[in-house]
Amino acid sequence: MSNSKALATRPLFPEARAILDAHFDTEYWMQPERIPRAELLRRVADKDALVCLLTEKVDEDLLAAAPKLRAVATVSVGYDNIDVAACSRHNVVATNTPGVLDETTADLTWALIMAVARRLIEGDSWMRAGTWPGWELDQMLGGDVWGKTLGIIGFGRIGRRVARRALGFQMRVLYHSSSRAPVETERELNAEFAAIDRVLRESDFVTLHVPLRPGTRHLISTAALAKMKPTAYLINTTRGPVVDEAALVEALDRKQIAGAALDVYENEPKVHAGLIARRDVVLAPHIGSATIETRTKMAVMAANNVVAVFEGRCPPNALNAEALVR
Ligand code: GLV
Repeated sequence: MSNSKALATRPLFPEARAILDAHFDTEYWMQPERIPRAELLRRVADKDALVCLLTEKVDEDLLAAAPKLRAVATVSVGYDNIDVAACSRHNVVATNTPGVLDETTADLTWALIMAVARRLIEGDSWMRAGTWPGWELDQMLGGDVWGKTLGIIGFGRIGRRVARRALGFQMRVLYHSSSRAPVETERELNAEFAAIDRVLRESDFVTLHVPLRPGTRHLISTAALAKMKPTAYLINTTRGPVVDEAALVEALDRKQIAGAALDVYENEPKVHAGLIARRDVVLAPHIGSATIETRTKMAVMAANNVVAVFEGRCPPNALNAEALVR
């Protein structure tokens, strides 16, 4: 073990701890609640490496408070919690955990599609309340999934996994992305590139897979929601602020769309009050990647990333490799 010091803001998993402990004198935040910001700033002050979560902001203030810091690894694919430009200015290499959570997040996206279309959560509550009157012809009618049109906004690793699953449901897939996928990928996934307006207008399910960036904040606005079919559903497993939540509540109130299934929220852990009481929304607690296998892989990946920096290698998932060579 070197004399380098690391801070992990969670106990992580034994597999990841073994990697960190072999290379660093590592301090773990062991409390059940999240590390308070003041505590994070205090504990990171003498550390060389930080393994953090998407709920912790790595910004100019934190970097200024940690003059020895050389590596920051967020245990998430999304890195909107990290000011990467500020990390570069401080010669801190930042990393994320892409790839290992794609299939798991695509699975959850499909769980949400099925749950909202077939009113599964509403039905479950009914059964538990003991108020189900028995089978009726017109009871709990939802929307078909099979054979419908799936609109995928953001056609990166996760969007493509979602499309692959749609093959089994014999759906038409329209996608919009900042760049068009190779023709072979389109053919293999039976997916057609379309302008975002067309995806919104023609899809029965619109699912979001763009990262949160200044250009994607409130991508799903009042105007975007107004383009969707009244029978369509919105699915969000990326980042809450991609959807204007107040606009979504208004669109649901006006029956401009049929429902929504959300795993992420604008101001987590808060949920817009207008969503809570609705029966046409499914609300999941940001569990897109939450399987034991995947979360373990993510933590191991983050640990390996910080180790690479201290072994003088470019970490496999560097977001600012230029910070390493300075
Ligand atoms: C989860 O939301 C992640 O970004 O990994």
